[in-house]
Amino acid sequence: MALLVCLSLVAGLLTAFYYWTKKKFSYWSNKGVIGPTPLPIVGNFGTVMLQQESAQLYVKKVHLKYKGEKLVGIYRGSQPAILVRDPELIKHVLIKDFNIFQDRGISTSSSRLSDNLFGADGEIWKILRQKLTPVFTSRKLKDMIPLILKCSNSFTKYVDNLIEKNVEHEIRSLTSKYTLEVIGSCAFGLDLNTVSDEENEFSLIPKKIFKPSIYVRTLVILDMIIPGIKKKFNTSSEIQDFFVNLVRSVIHERKGKPSNRKDFMDLMIELREQGKASRRKEDGVSEIEIDDLMIAAQSLVFYTAGFETSAASMSFLIHEMALNPEIQERIHDEVCRVYEKYNGELTYESTKEMPYLDMVFDETLRKYSVAGILFRKSLADYTFPGTDVTIPKGMPVMISANGLNADPEYFPNPNEFNPENFSPENKKNIPQCAYMPFGEGPRNCIGLRFAKVQSMLGTAAFFKHFKVEPSSKTKRVLEYDPKGIVLVTAHGIWVKISKR
Ligand code: HEM
Repeated sequence: MALLVCLSLVAGLLTAFYYWTKKKFSYWSNKGVIGPTPLPIVGNFGTVMLQQESAQLYVKKVHLKYKGEKLVGIYRGSQPAILVRDPELIKHVLIKDFNIFQDRGISTSSSRLSDNLFGADGEIWKILRQKLTPVFTSRKLKDMIPLILKCSNSFTKYVDNLIEKNVEHEIRSLTSKYTLEVIGSCAFGLDLNTVSDEENEFSLIPKKIFKPSIYVRTLVILDMIIPGIKKKFNTSSEIQDFFVNLVRSVIHERKGKPSNRKDFMDLMIELREQGKASRRKEDGVSEIEIDDLMIAAQSLVFYTAGFETSAASMSFLIHEMALNPEIQERIHDEVCRVYEKYNGELTYESTKEMPYLDMVFDETLRKYSVAGILFRKSLADYTFPGTDVTIPKGMPVMISANGLNADPEYFPNPNEFNPENFSPENKKNIPQCAYMPFGEGPRNCIGLRFAKVQSMLGTAAFFKHFKVEPSSKTKRVLEYDPKGIVLVTAHGIWVKISKR
């Protein structure tokens, strides 16, 4: 009898679960939006949850599979989300109807560190963006050039010493040293000496952020199935302590006053002195408190967004140069000409006189979009123009930047590395919102110009002095780490480096 009751109970639960998932997973078919078939519990993100592939490469696959569709319905766990494929509709989401899609909707942490420019939403984001934009003007960038050049000199000296001992090198760890040194110097006024064999605390932090522990990874997966659960656990105390201590020590060193460096920390110290940052809006004024934790949160995002993405892009560029010697020679010639014109020292203006390197950089970000998914969340019910698809308030919206970059509709032979995709004639034929390595609209990458200038100066210095070739460990087709948050290879990027 007891067995019968148990069996009926299990059968009842299974039936209830079946109808629950069936109802949940009929959301898109009821709206006539097609998409991949979901599995119970995990929806379409099973392989991502099992860490067999990264979210950005999965979403890219979906983007490419549904050729001809403007919108694709997917499920993150049991939660419906929409993938926008069509550049015209993407333009609406990112630019024209920005007031509805201002939020990124990705913050899953209760830590105050998530009140950073990347993770924050609503009024907090608006105030932060307004207050932090002045750090990234061309004027500020120009002032930072001597600091960046100092880092690129240390970088080439370091590589010079290194190749005396060995010729085969993992290039990603080398470019990370350079970009870490740059961000340490330009954002925090720190002379880190990361471009050395020493490992300091500053250079170990990214490993904790970009290679989260099993505990954090499990919470991320659970959060896809039960949205909101991650907020209930503390996941970032070590990283939080590191940045709060870093910020406090820089403030202490500057005696609580802005220095003459006019860097990111100076600006944050100015805001901290006022105690609050505010924004005038139609129905009054909104305010946020600027304390050490708020500064630490911004430092964290500048640090992570600032160095990891640029290091990755530079390493992919160097990889492609090892495989494309003719392109490499053209870069070397162009760089040498500019160095000669500027008497051996690059300037801000000189970065605009390397159009071929610029094309190569754009093509690198096309073939390897390091931050491949753009996220938004609808703040109201929204009907996509020209369609009868309406999404409700709160719906997650995804755009696959690297799916668009690999779409033959916009880039012929997308697997081939071809800088001519960005020649002046070809560039103007790329539809708006079909190429967005830095995102688009008012919530695009605030560090875009900084990223370009630091990468161009570092790459120019590198190719002036060195030549790269494939080594025995070079992989023509790179394999990616399924656990990577930004695009990272599974086995590093290996090249042979020799002196010019
Ligand atoms: C090659 C280098 C870089 C790439 C490919 C990149 C890419 C991106 C992308 C795709 C976004 C999202 C944009 C969107 O949703 O529309 C973003 C946002 C952001 N990036 Fe970058 N980025 C790079 C370098 C940097 C640097 C150097 C910094 C700072 C020093 C930075 C700081 C940020 C911040 C703070 C945001 C959030 C902006 C906001 O929400 O208002 N990034 N980046």
